[in-house]
Amino acid sequence: MTHKYKAHSKKNLRRAALYATAWTGAVAALGFNAHAIKADHAEKCARCMAEDAYFEQQAPVGDRFDLSQVNLSYMTQGFGSPRTNQSVDGNPITIDQVVYSTGVGTHAVSTLMVDLNKTAQSFHAMVGLDDETKGKGKVVFQVWVDGHLRFDSGVMSYGDAAKPVDVNLAGAKSVTFLVNPGTAGIDFDHADWADAYFTLTPNHVGLPQAASVPSAPPRLVIPKPSPLPEIHGAPIVGATPHYPFLFRVPATGMAPLYFHAKGLPAGLKINSSTGIISGSLPHNGRWNVTLIVNGRRGHTTRQLVIVGGKHKLALTPPMGWNSWNVWAGAVDQQKMLASAQAMISSGLAAHGYQYVNIDDTWEGPRTKQGVITTNQKFPNMAQLGRDIHSMGLKFGIYSSPGPTTCAGFPASYRHELQDAQSYAKWGVDYLKYDWCSYQNVAVGTGTEYYALPYWVMRKSLDTVDRDILFSFCQYGMGDVWKWGARAGGNCWRTTGDINDSWGSLIGIINAQAPIGRYNGPGHWNDPDMLVVGDVGWGHPHPSRLTPNEQLTHISMWCMFSAPLLVGCDMTNLSPFTKAILTNDEVLAINQDPLGETARRVVYNPQEQVWVRPLADGSHAVALLNTGFQPMKVMATWKQLGLTGRLKARDLWLHKDVGTHAGAIGYVVPPHGVVLLKLWR
Ligand code: GAL
Repeated sequence: MTHKYKAHSKKNLRRAALYATAWTGAVAALGFNAHAIKADHAEKCARCMAEDAYFEQQAPVGDRFDLSQVNLSYMTQGFGSPRTNQSVDGNPITIDQVVYSTGVGTHAVSTLMVDLNKTAQSFHAMVGLDDETKGKGKVVFQVWVDGHLRFDSGVMSYGDAAKPVDVNLAGAKSVTFLVNPGTAGIDFDHADWADAYFTLTPNHVGLPQAASVPSAPPRLVIPKPSPLPEIHGAPIVGATPHYPFLFRVPATGMAPLYFHAKGLPAGLKINSSTGIISGSLPHNGRWNVTLIVNGRRGHTTRQLVIVGGKHKLALTPPMGWNSWNVWAGAVDQQKMLASAQAMISSGLAAHGYQYVNIDDTWEGPRTKQGVITTNQKFPNMAQLGRDIHSMGLKFGIYSSPGPTTCAGFPASYRHELQDAQSYAKWGVDYLKYDWCSYQNVAVGTGTEYYALPYWVMRKSLDTVDRDILFSFCQYGMGDVWKWGARAGGNCWRTTGDINDSWGSLIGIINAQAPIGRYNGPGHWNDPDMLVVGDVGWGHPHPSRLTPNEQLTHISMWCMFSAPLLVGCDMTNLSPFTKAILTNDEVLAINQDPLGETARRVVYNPQEQVWVRPLADGSHAVALLNTGFQPMKVMATWKQLGLTGRLKARDLWLHKDVGTHAGAIGYVVPPHGVVLLKLWR
């Protein structure tokens, strides 16, 4: 063994420390006794002061137990799975060009709780962003011991030298390892707990064991359905004159319900038993329609504004369902029909959900003339369109501007016009248009590079005599929010694909903070489809989000005015899933005609507060606890931009919670939310 490092410079000290840590790891991995070797080493190397000092301070006095030896299936993270002795992408763990043979590779937002029961006396690691990110990503490592923060790395970027972690665990019951994103999003936040190990307590009984972060009971009350008739959903809808108009009035109350409307424009009629308004608008204009619903227990009225004009879709965010998050490639016509029927029978349509959208994998080969066909899973697309419309619901489809879709099926490249015509023939009302293989044929530079394919399809859709809501899916590239509306989009994905993990959810929430101001009626930021209920991309399982995380998910999508596309198995909704998807007070924030987006006014790794104004002069406020233990989250009127004495209502508890002045704060469960409405 050669010892070349001198203790004179900071750099050499760091290298010596690294070397020594790596050496201790190697020794332990080989099953040697670190103390005996250390004694031998000290004797032979009297001049290696740096290493010796390091050993005095750092060397384990008990046995070493690697972090990677705990059951890492308990670790939750933003993307991918945790890896033993590898980075999250499966490469050797490498931080600032130093390769580590042991450790855990993860991806922010990452949480791992380990029960110790006094089995360990300390924890050691070298932490940093993995070199595989090639310049991107930023992360913050934290170690919490029995609820107290004991290590915080600060924001770490690509090229930062690994930071040593040395945490005393004497007497500790549990330790929690967190990696938070260092900036808004979680893209490329590949984080390494390199050479990470516990030093075990002498005579320990048992070993450190990974555990689930305790999930607090969901903070909500599920009310009994009211027998009184009530009208929900969009307060304003638009359509192009002379094109098919379809709107099912969402209403609840003890059946049977009877529907009427006063002030409908000529050309529209309402079916009194289904509440379906159909026909077409006679000309451009604005109609203030009074909807009336009579039920067994009384009657109710509500205004619906109908706007006639070109490009007047999505005046509030679209609400509906999409097949991808539950079925992925396993979607077929039968499942689509069953989902539409379930939208009615589950009651979701009665709360405002109306789009039933097929995602990828419906496509068949093109005919000789270039017309797109369906594959055997979809024997009759036009029939499916008719079936969905007969329920007063709307029909969505999926394609890509590239030669193939993301799943490798034929897509619209150089067939845009023909495809728009096919969609119109099938009765399509919504198109999700996913960048995918367009990457290989894209031309131009700057914004044009990103916008061109969307503009081409916009022009194609404009030639058919149907309104088709146009949803861009290109994961936020080229700051789509800045030009999406000009390119003719009604909504655009802002991030990569969502999954049912806290890391994914909080990463997407964080990514919305700087872009809210680009939202507005007719053009919405789309943080992706919902992951509550049974989801699983072809292998359905109950959402892995905890109940409180699911409340945060729905609350924030409403605060953002995000499209609300349910992503689960509609035919198998648990009472909890149904309750969180049908809270009318929460959905009313999403459908608020002002179309504002929440602003984040408090932000640190443990808490966030968001506020947005509503059309009636009130404000919606979300208090988020992003930490892993219960915490009081507060906001002052100054932070919220409010004044005076304000009444407050807790929207998940369905309860007025008094009058407040100056500030408001509640204890919020871990990863949970308190969603409030404040008004004078
Ligand atoms: C992804 C898209 C997903 C889903 C999938 C289908 O690019 O973000 O939402 O549509 O393609 O292949």
